Amino acid sequence: MKQLFVLGLASLLVACGGKEEPKVTDSTSNTPPAATAPMDKAALSEQAKNAIKTYGGSLKAELQTAMQSGGPINAISACQLKAPEIAKTVSDGEKLQVSRVSLRNRNPVTGVPNEWQTQVLNDFEARKVKGEALESLVYSELVENAGKQEFRFMKAIPTEAMCLTCHGSEVSPAVMTRLKELYPQDKATGFKEGDLRGAFVVVKNLP
Ligand code: HEC
Repeated sequence: MKQLFVLGLASLLVACGGKEEPKVTDSTSNTPPAATAPMDKAALSEQAKNAIKTYGGSLKAELQTAMQSGGPINAISACQLKAPEIAKTVSDGEKLQVSRVSLRNRNPVTGVPNEWQTQVLNDFEARKVKGEALESLVYSELVENAGKQEFRFMKAIPTEAMCLTCHGSEVSPAVMTRLKELYPQDKATGFKEGDLRGAFVVVKNLP
């Protein structure tokens, strides 16, 4: 698992090395150079997708290992401890911020979406209803924030069968008790396989 993670990070670094971001220097023009903007966005999206792949892959591996070695109660603690740790490692390595949010969140601090993230999550739900596959739902935007460019990226997280032990509608009493101890305001149960569980978020501040 560790090896995979390191490999993932290495390929991230390779993927992002040597590319200079073209700067918009003409402050008198209202329209950014059309030729460079989409290319930047594509490269940034690629970087965001890679960061999410590393983060998501490591999380899942941690979860599976913890479930196998000590069952779901043990895995709850592993998830609580490891999720922020892995997020920080990937974020620092990539100079961006990666996280997970949900409209029905478990972690009352890190899991809560802000305004634009809430809009995107609602949009993902609407696109799902219209028949789009959850696996392919992404959002990306370059915005101006306090005079600086900010790249925003989100990717939908589908609920899989293995998630139901801790996020489903028939969570065992023992798991429920542990979850209530750690997360008294938990909103993240009652999901079915194929539901939108939430989304990965990547935010990158551009120089
Ligand atoms: C062993 C129990 C367990 C399993 C299985 C599990 N989770 Fe979680 N999940 C948790 C815990 C605990 C947290 C809170 C972590 C934290 O405090 O950061 C969480 C948080 C999350 C969050 C962050 C947003 C929020 O609600 O706070 C997402 C998204 C998520 N889980 C998705 C999944 C998906 C998708 C799966 C299946 C692939 C899954 N989980 C399987 C226990 C579990």
